Amino acid sequence: LKRDSRFAQITDDHVAYFKDLLGKESAVIDGVTTEVSSDDMEPYNGDWMRKYRGHCKLVLKPGSTEEVSKILKYCNDNMLAVVPQGGNTGLVGGSVPVFDEIVINTSRMNQIRSFDDVSGILVADAGVVLEVADQFLAEKGYIFPLDLGAKGSCHIGGNVATNAGGLRLLRYGSLHGSVLGIEAVLPDGTIVDDLSKLRKNNTGYDLKQLFIGGEGTIGMITAVSVQCPQRSSAVNVAFLAVDSYEKMQQTFREARQQLGEILSAFELMDLRSQQLVHKVRSSKSPLDGEHPFYCLIETSGSNADHDTEKLGNFLEDVMSKEIVTDGVLAQDETQLRSLWSQREGIPECLGHWGGVYKYDVSIPLEDMYRLVDETREKIDAAGLRGDTDEFPVVDVVGYGHMGDSNLHLNVAVRRYDKRVEQVLEPFVYEWIAKVNGSISAEHGLGIAKKNYIGYSRSETMVGLMKQIKNLYDPNGIMNPYKYL
Ligand code: FAD
Ligand code: MLT
Ligand code: ZN
Repeated sequence: LKRDSRFAQITDDHVAYFKDLLGKESAVIDGVTTEVSSDDMEPYNGDWMRKYRGHCKLVLKPGSTEEVSKILKYCNDNMLAVVPQGGNTGLVGGSVPVFDEIVINTSRMNQIRSFDDVSGILVADAGVVLEVADQFLAEKGYIFPLDLGAKGSCHIGGNVATNAGGLRLLRYGSLHGSVLGIEAVLPDGTIVDDLSKLRKNNTGYDLKQLFIGGEGTIGMITAVSVQCPQRSSAVNVAFLAVDSYEKMQQTFREARQQLGEILSAFELMDLRSQQLVHKVRSSKSPLDGEHPFYCLIETSGSNADHDTEKLGNFLEDVMSKEIVTDGVLAQDETQLRSLWSQREGIPECLGHWGGVYKYDVSIPLEDMYRLVDETREKIDAAGLRGDTDEFPVVDVVGYGHMGDSNLHLNVAVRRYDKRVEQVLEPFVYEWIAKVNGSISAEHGLGIAKKNYIGYSRSETMVGLMKQIKNLYDPNGIMNPYKYL
């Protein structure tokens, strides 16, 4: 990949313009006119997986939509490439520069604009941290319709830009449904004010959908309006052990049948993912012994007695039918959090050894786990897995949002290694294309999946995407070198 020579290099004059515009010292981090150590730039240049590193020398932190508009117009007029950035927790290298693109970070745009207690509609700046939004809503009896392990750092603008799925999509659906409106800025500075608070609005093309999951390639989201559901007063969690993937599918089926409308999460974890979590944390499994698979089932409803009885009956039933081998129900809030952390902690623990190859895929349920087994066989056949530094692969694990047919196939490594990559790619992508799956269920394409979009989208569709990109961003300054 080569730097696109159409883009200008940042000069002192550019920096002076931005300093004048944004004023406050903290709003511009500049390695062009000021000596800043690479440590100061590292949080903006390096991604969460320590896999991608940019060389940006200028980070801008606008405080308002108007400032974003002026920044983008100036960049567009001067052919300066930019990367929109929220909490920088993205997992496909989309949120960091590739060369010297300017980072436009949303952390100073962090105000909740309004909340309607009756409709549950929240309007907030793009830079509000997901957990902050959710805590605000909790006080009002509502919940943000998205939850994920990075909630303490990711921004809701970033969530919308990636169309993040997370742990409760099964219950609350995709952001394509719950985001009612968007305010965004196009590269030429135009402010698209579509902060609708309407649940229904069939007036022509629904253009906001292009920004949802657009990964910052056509404009910068500055605010969102979100339909938030009622927070359930009764939440229960069960952690179950299952002997085979076949039985895991039966467990899911029974859970849907028996728990019905109160089911709010069904998360899969294989034994190896749990072994790695326990190794890193020096902790123990909530269940005795070792079992090939585990799942976490959450229910959310309005009647604690009713829900507890329902979940208890379900557990008794699936154990008596020998579908489930063992299980535990959280008895209090502390235990509930601890069970959730067996699942939510997986991504962080997998990164412990140095790196991780991540495949976030949608596959028909019946085929889902076979991909993990076959990938492990390939890695073993290549002699890449072992206990010492000579063998880069620590393990091949599978976990994910089984309730949404979304598997996370992860290969934890001691260091990123071309040999490992060559075994995995295009093997994994070919496998997915064969079963008509998707190479990106929820993380997006970014730079990691840039060359593989063709495994999930036809030439016609990629062509249409390119037309849209060119229409919105004719100079190509928005998040260049990424998937389009
Ligand atoms: P960033 O990482 O900063 O940016 C992500 C992308 O969006 C980039 O392409 C960036 O250019 C663009 N972008 C950011 N802000 C804007 C904006 N305002 N306007 C336009 N474009 C913008 N994802 C899931 O789907 N489900 C999960 O369960 C899940 N769990 C995770 C758990 C962990 C521990 C981690 C580290 C990540 C997880 N993710 C998950 C990945 C997920 O994509 C991000 O966590 C989150 O949605 C990204 O938000 P962010 O603010 O960090 O965005
Ligand atoms: C998750 O479900 O934990 C996230 O999508 C992060 C990951 O895939 O590791
Ligand atoms: Zn996920």
